[in-house]
Amino acid sequence: MRQYRIQGGQRLLGEVKIGGAKNAVLPILAAVCLNQGETIITNCPRISDTFDSIEILKSIGFRVAFTENTLKITAGDGIKHEIPDEYAIKMRSSILFLGALLATTGRASLALPGGCKLGDRAINLHIEGLQAMGAEIIQQNDKLYCKTDGLKGTKIALDFPSVGATENLMIAAVNARGETTIKNAAREPEVQDLARFLKALGAKIQGAGTKTIKILGQNATTTKVTHKIIPDRIVAGTYLVAAAMTKGEITLQNVDPFDLTPVTSYLKEMGCTLHANPSTVTITAPTLLKPIPFLATKVHPGFPTDMQAQFAAALTIADGNSQLTESVFNCRTSHVKELRKMGAKITLTADKCTFLIEGRPKLNPATLAAHDLRCGAALILAALATPGESLVQNANYVQRGYESIESDLTQLGATITLEKI
Ligand code: UD1
Repeated sequence: MRQYRIQGGQRLLGEVKIGGAKNAVLPILAAVCLNQGETIITNCPRISDTFDSIEILKSIGFRVAFTENTLKITAGDGIKHEIPDEYAIKMRSSILFLGALLATTGRASLALPGGCKLGDRAINLHIEGLQAMGAEIIQQNDKLYCKTDGLKGTKIALDFPSVGATENLMIAAVNARGETTIKNAAREPEVQDLARFLKALGAKIQGAGTKTIKILGQNATTTKVTHKIIPDRIVAGTYLVAAAMTKGEITLQNVDPFDLTPVTSYLKEMGCTLHANPSTVTITAPTLLKPIPFLATKVHPGFPTDMQAQFAAALTIADGNSQLTESVFNCRTSHVKELRKMGAKITLTADKCTFLIEGRPKLNPATLAAHDLRCGAALILAALATPGESLVQNANYVQRGYESIESDLTQLGATITLEKI
């Protein structure tokens, strides 16, 4: 068990470099199963979800070397189709190995995936899409058993542009016979990064980043591939909000300012000044943040659900009332009760999807518990902005998606340590 000890109240100032994106590397590590050659992944974040994906790869027969931020993955003699339960249940992205293993071995078995509890995280779109491509899938005692005599390309219209389902079907389609069309596909930058990786393997893919993706199957080759992971826009967004909440002025290096627009546009609405260069963003915060009358999470290019908790924290100290609606997940509220421990005024509507936030001049220091990854990030931000000492427990959640949040924030002048309890 680990916790963050934070002495809040300092302005964040300076520069920090942003690493590779968690949500880009995880599907790519599943897609690695398609390559019988050598895969080198650079700018790979050293987060616990990466380490768990590496364990999955090793357990099914890959050799993996991880040096600094570079992963070298080599296929072994045969790939196993069964993922050990201990890794499958740890993180939601283990489901992405379903498409990858079906496409390579014709079989897959894994326990139903785990991950942060954000309401009902169904997997029906993954299952239905793979079934439409010719997979037989049986669920028994919280475990999925899947097989196919060979996947075939087809037209799949997703009811919702699920990021994971889009990625799973893209990976599976690379080895399917004929053309697969995914309509109402997710358009997130991480989906586009996966498409770049698959293309480097030789896959023929069109339309990633739009609502219709087409994959012409059976074109990938065994090859030596090097791929650089895109910057993590959620880590970047988290640090921008940290600067906004501490009246700071910071520059993020190694970011894609365009991918950050759904976040930076709302920081501007809160009174922050932002300057972008091709790979940096500088934020200067006002002395008092303005409230946002209405903000709702949406699929990309809308405001990202993975920034909802951090903005909820920032709006608790804005100069007026805000309304924040979560519309991607049906229950992403675990940060609310923790922020209330600091004196935040947040009312949840009956459906628990809309937060009515009454901004106040400052919060009170407190002992807090992270209940999921972004909840933990939001609590760290609230503690940074609050004079006095706060503790954020359950650091393991934060370490799933931030390589070393304490070092980055210390570099920006914060007083934060990670300690064992
Ligand atoms: C990914 C991200 C996560 C982010 C989310 C939304 C990764 C590793 N994780 O998660 O950080 O918060 O996108 O941007 O990339 N749904 C269904 N049926 C399905 C699949 C999804 O109903 O088969 C629903 C979910 O319950 C949820 C919504 O679709 O309400 C969004 O889920 P999805 O886009 O699939 O998120 P993930 O891929 O799990």
